[in-house]
Amino acid sequence: MKLQGEKTQEFFDRGKKVIPYGVNSNFRYWGDEDTIVINRGEGAYVWDMDGKRYIDYRLGFGPVILGHAYPEVVTGVQEALQGGNIFAWTTPYEISVAERITRMCNVDKVRLTNTGTEATMHALRIARAHTGREKFIKFEGQYHGMADYFMFSTASSYRGGLGSRRSPIPLANTSGIPKAINHYVLTVLYNDFEGLERKVKDNWGDLAAIIVEPMLGNSASIMPQPGFLEKIRELCDEYGIVMIFDEVKTGFRIAKGGAQEYFGVQADLATYAKSMGNGFPIAAIAGKEEVMMTIEPGAMAHGGTYSGNVVGAAAAEATLEILENQPILETIKARGKALMAGIGDVLTEASLPHVVTGVPSMFGIFLGSDEEPRDFRDYLAGDGELYEEISIGLNRRGIQPDADGREPWFLCYALSEEDVAETLNAFNDAVKEAKDK
Ligand SMILES: Cc1ncc(COP(=O)(O)O)c(C=O)c1O
Repeated sequence: MKLQGEKTQEFFDRGKKVIPYGVNSNFRYWGDEDTIVINRGEGAYVWDMDGKRYIDYRLGFGPVILGHAYPEVVTGVQEALQGGNIFAWTTPYEISVAERITRMCNVDKVRLTNTGTEATMHALRIARAHTGREKFIKFEGQYHGMADYFMFSTASSYRGGLGSRRSPIPLANTSGIPKAINHYVLTVLYNDFEGLERKVKDNWGDLAAIIVEPMLGNSASIMPQPGFLEKIRELCDEYGIVMIFDEVKTGFRIAKGGAQEYFGVQADLATYAKSMGNGFPIAAIAGKEEVMMTIEPGAMAHGGTYSGNVVGAAAAEATLEILENQPILETIKARGKALMAGIGDVLTEASLPHVVTGVPSMFGIFLGSDEEPRDFRDYLAGDGELYEEISIGLNRRGIQPDADGREPWFLCYALSEEDVAETLNAFNDAVKEAKDK
């Protein structure tokens, strides 16, 4: 498609000489002509090195809940930084953030980390230490970060390799994972009540945790079937397994209290990152007293030089203060509802079978069928190529969802009604163009 203008390409080529593929996260590589270099962001927009403006629906893969360079957050961080960033001691910022999270998410205790990967990795260790067991269940199509244990049956589109629906095979997503790790990972299809129950009954004596993205934030925002999260809760209670909600994408986005509040199900542990700091590197593991207190100096390790550093903690304090006290999520919801409905109308008018999945603050577009997808395999059976075609057309027109339809459309508070209207116009044109191809 050649998204790069002249200057953007110049920077990309320069970067590629010293950074593998020119990116610091593989997900950012869209090919040698379409990987952009960003000059700056403000509100709902980003600009590339050529000055091309995009309405941003990727928002750094979700974190920018308020908008880029949101003044109160920037000021909060700047002011805090005047007093230094790191001390090998606790700061008041960390305490305030933990207090706020306990209040907003109905949890007892919080430990801060820097990234979602660190949070899920430590959550799994807590679950193992708490139960004395070593294996865990994850669901196909769910992503929990880059740690070896979780890189199974996620972004892979090698449908054949996933095995039968009845006995799914954990499929490593990358080279570089020791074979032995496979032994600890059990996969289940999302929304498969019967498969989950069977897997738990057959393995409970070895099961430390069931980790779940409460909605599939890494597979087009597929929603849980009524009762599915409750079923996980019930099985975890019955068999003494730690239930982990990976709320890295849903936390502070789909409700103030995240998915636990939205779905009315309380996990034992929850992991947060992204929206927590409006894009600054800050994350958390939070949960019930008796599980969190498994962390114990000299007994169960959790740590990190940068955990709770002032930049991240001050960003979280500023962001969460706003999210807790202002009608931010209500505004995002209204814009998202209009966008979801408008996108649905365009696709209906174009006679394209579709389902707009998820919730207004993070939704997905499933093409190729009118039947709601229930799991990752349903998603893979959809028309991903058409989605990519439409997405490319949108990017050309200055509207930027991810090219990969698994990644939801993320909305921020700065997105205006005019931005929504501009997006829907472009969507209409991009659909027509893709259909005519
Ligand atoms: C649900 C979920 N968990 C964990 C992670 C990993 O977070 P990070 O990229 O901050 O390590 C992600 C990242 O997208 C995610 O979506």
